[in-house]
Amino acid sequence: MSGFTVCGTVIHAPVCGEVEVLEDALIEVDETGHIVAVHLAGTDDYQELRRRASERGKLQLLAAGQYLLPGLVDLHIHAPQWPQLGKALHLPLYGWLHQYTFPLEAKYRDIGFAEAVYTSLVDTLVANGTTTALYFGTIHLEATKRLADICLARGQRGLVGKVAMDNPEECPDFYRDVSAERGLEDTRALIQYINALSGNETGLVKPVVTPRFIPSCTDEMLAGLAEIAGEYGCHIQTHCSESDWEHAYVINRHGRHDGQSLKEFGLLTNKTLLAHANFIDDADMDAIGQAQTGIAHCPLSNFYFSNAVFPARKALDRGLQVGLGTDISGGPDPSLLRNCSMAVTTSRALEEGVDPDADSDSRGTPGSRIDFREAFWMATTAGGLALDLKTGLFKQGYAFDAIVIDANVENSNLILWEGLDTHEDMLQKIIYSADRHNIIRVWVQGRLIKGDNNS
Ligand code: GUN
Ligand code: FE
Repeated sequence: MSGFTVCGTVIHAPVCGEVEVLEDALIEVDETGHIVAVHLAGTDDYQELRRRASERGKLQLLAAGQYLLPGLVDLHIHAPQWPQLGKALHLPLYGWLHQYTFPLEAKYRDIGFAEAVYTSLVDTLVANGTTTALYFGTIHLEATKRLADICLARGQRGLVGKVAMDNPEECPDFYRDVSAERGLEDTRALIQYINALSGNETGLVKPVVTPRFIPSCTDEMLAGLAEIAGEYGCHIQTHCSESDWEHAYVINRHGRHDGQSLKEFGLLTNKTLLAHANFIDDADMDAIGQAQTGIAHCPLSNFYFSNAVFPARKALDRGLQVGLGTDISGGPDPSLLRNCSMAVTTSRALEEGVDPDADSDSRGTPGSRIDFREAFWMATTAGGLALDLKTGLFKQGYAFDAIVIDANVENSNLILWEGLDTHEDMLQKIIYSADRHNIIRVWVQGRLIKGDNNS
């Protein structure tokens, strides 16, 4: 790939709660896919740079009604649950795991099945604008290696974990690591495989230490995984205080909340991502903030499995790194944009309350709302911050991970009304009504992985 320059209307969110619109900005990308510079219209060498890029055939000009946004960062996906999307949503978490999810995940000992599902999923997520994806695989080493291979082949920035779950009291015989020792060994093997993967010299695909959640792991497994993460400097992902049942289970077993327990085991680091975190209290928030641990807020999934709404406003006001996750298939939609709108909607439900029989003055939790600006920040900038990766923003030194949203495509719900819609209005509309058909181009690390440059 040689370098190129994109010119058009750029929308991103350097600051939580604020949106920056740059009209006719020039973004210079080098041959390694990094942003060299962002030039604003009207600055000194702007015209000269634009002319030179154009002469060299390296200028990609966006049309009116097209918007360049940072690629979306999905912080929580269960890749093996893709065939289950939109099904089995009637049970609470425990029953859902045991009756539907564990039996489905057990099928990934079949590599052919794994390849078919993972290819379909990665392609769908890319089509929906997800440039960075944090994946749980299954307990199976080989299938999880294939997921890493597919991310690399498709060019998606993928962070991939072999699920660790060895607790015989909480995991069925047909789907469990045979021992902590074996689970740890396979975790190491996956890390070594991904780190040595041919074509992955830039680290586009990364390994992730993945204790499923405290209930499914023995203490020996949790301690061993923390040690491995430290040794390799790896990311860590797990579920945290997700539902009433799960939160109570950890209090019962460890005498403390998930956040404190993970901290004691050494699993709360600046490269840890906690999915859900609905029932975290002030002390948990302090621990999470001090460790600079990220949270994957999964607003759609939470409505089905969590018994509560994540206190997004409170977490943001405390400066926590809160990004967004689809939680496929607990969340029945692969689009992170839909999860942006759900993050806003659920925060409004928390603020207003939902029980019509309750008095209006005690129905909700005042001051809980977030708006589309914060949701957009979560889906982009905060995702990068939480993962400690330079993605999610248009800034010098960052990877050029970007999407073009086109409001001109036919038969679309996204319509730009000339004279009525500001650029910021359009961002809000994108969050509520753009879908994969409006996402006409997707780049990861400067490589175009959806669309072509002439559309
Ligand atoms: N907790 C443990 N495993 C899972 C899972 O697969 N999905 C969700 N939402 N929560 C979990
Ligand atoms: Fe999950």
